[in-house]
Amino acid sequence: MNATEQLAAWIQESSRIVFFGGAGTSTESGIPDFRSAAGLYQTEQHSPYPPEELLSRHFFDQHADIFYDFYRGKMLHPDAEPNGCHHLLAKLERLGKLHAVITQNIDGLHQKAGSSHVLELHGSVHRNACMDCKQFYSLQDIIQSKDVVPRCTSCGGVIKPDVVLYEEELNQATLYQAIDALSSADLLLVGGTSLTVYPAAQLITYFQGKYTALLNATPTAYDHRADLLITEPIGEVMKSVDQLLA
Ligand SMILES: NC(=O)c1ccc[n+]([C@@H]2O[C@H](COP(=O)([O-])OP(=O)(O)OC[C@H]3O[C@@H](n4cnc5c(N)ncnc54)[C@H](O)[C@@H]3O)[C@@H](O)[C@H]2O)c1
Ligand SMILES: [Zn+2]
Repeated sequence: MNATEQLAAWIQESSRIVFFGGAGTSTESGIPDFRSAAGLYQTEQHSPYPPEELLSRHFFDQHADIFYDFYRGKMLHPDAEPNGCHHLLAKLERLGKLHAVITQNIDGLHQKAGSSHVLELHGSVHRNACMDCKQFYSLQDIIQSKDVVPRCTSCGGVIKPDVVLYEEELNQATLYQAIDALSSADLLLVGGTSLTVYPAAQLITYFQGKYTALLNATPTAYDHRADLLITEPIGEVMKSVDQLLA
């Protein structure tokens, strides 16, 4: 049995699968990750501000204009489409085999593929709110805003994306739901994440089920815990798994 067949067999026999993913899940949809060779941490290294700085809360408060310039140019991909990974996970949820998708991504592609139980640890570009009166704004509102820093049409306050910036805490309810899902899962699929962002990455230690499959192009600190390691592109792998399940 090759690795893809093994993964398909485990999925076949599982009924409470949890997927834990990151930016690598969406690179095949055309959204760059942070730490690959083509990721934002490499391509942005000549900018005066490293991505960690640009995406931190103090930076947003002090330089919302520079933040939004970077955010609009590099983080917003409204036309991106889900790939084989997002599609298979949505299908497994429909079949009643997958309990939750836990993601560090902010792109909304799991929902676009049809997943409904998605725990977004780092928020979403699709939700935005006025920092003063809390009025909600969509991604389209942000994109269509004529000002670099979008302003509230009711009170003039600065609109902030519901995206967890460095120095900000994760939403506690989402965190507990993720722990709950992981603790009760029978198969853990970890995909497209360098597992270097805390506390998100540590969450997978709550898994107590049978098998962990780690699908990541490059090595991670958790490779030794995995029962199966797959380094081929995750969207393609999941497409093959889907064909084996059919
Ligand atoms: N799509 C998004 O929403 C997006 C994009 C960039 C960054 N981010 C944010 O950046 C943080 C980065 O942490 P992270 O661990 O998610 O990303 P990361 O950039 O640190 O790591 C991505 C990992 O995915 C692997 N990878 C890339 N393409 C792959 C593919 N096709 N198949 C298999 N593996 C692949 C890389 O080797 C790398 O180890 C997250 O907190 C996230 O919120 C989100
Ligand atoms: Zn307002």
